[in-house]
Amino acid sequence: MHFLKTEGLCKSFGGLMAIHNLEFEVEEGEIVGLIGPNGSGKTTTLNLITGFLKPDSGTVTFRGENVTGLPRCRACQKGMARTFQLVKPFLDFTALQNVMVGRVYGREPTKSLKVAAEESREFLEQVGLLAKADVLAKDLTLMERKRLELARALAAKPQLLLLDELMAGLNPGETEEAMQLIKQIRDLAEWCTRAGVALRARHSSLCLPGSPI
Ligand SMILES: Nc1ncnc2c1ncn2[C@@H]1O[C@H](COP(=O)(O)OP(=O)(O)O)[C@@H](O)[C@H]1O
Ligand SMILES: [Mg+2]
Repeated sequence: MHFLKTEGLCKSFGGLMAIHNLEFEVEEGEIVGLIGPNGSGKTTTLNLITGFLKPDSGTVTFRGENVTGLPRCRACQKGMARTFQLVKPFLDFTALQNVMVGRVYGREPTKSLKVAAEESREFLEQVGLLAKADVLAKDLTLMERKRLELARALAAKPQLLLLDELMAGLNPGETEEAMQLIKQIRDLAEWCTRAGVALRARHSSLCLPGSPI
């Protein structure tokens, strides 16, 4: 059984076929990347997997279960979490409150805000943002917001973590920091060592415009 598998996945927007017959697998424990030029369908692929979009046809199987078109909250509860290319924190929440949202609505939701706050501090620490716990998200830099996005995704306790352009917009130093961070997370978090980070597609799978390399 594959950890994640897509079969015959297709998605069009009006006349534009963004994803055509996408087929790939990710195995448990893999860290894999989905690469391709702008417009080649990377974000759409993540959206299809995590329930942000429904495919026109095809299936997504996660840990042996058909999760095609599940509402995004159900996909999250089943163990998938993602970050967004355009980071989307709750701007008027503090960093800590943002992460608590992931903890309260994630895979093992807690009703205790005390527990959520305590654990969320740990996730902030993991991404090097604990010192900013009480800072409003709108007052964070782009790199800090990306770290926050990651902490919030981690707080959902995912088994599959999908990172959409985590490095985009970062300078080379920040990119290096982000890469170290991803490796650290995999090393630190027991449940995360079993997670794939991002995706790999077969060459022929994504459709034009812009085939991935
Ligand atoms: N919600 C949408 N409505 C219309 N077109 C879309 C939508 N989302 C993506 N597209 C189009 O689908 C193609 C793939 O986009 P996207 O998945 O964002 O590519 P990538 O993430 O690889 O840059 C692009 O041509 C884009 O304009
Ligand atoms: Mg994209």
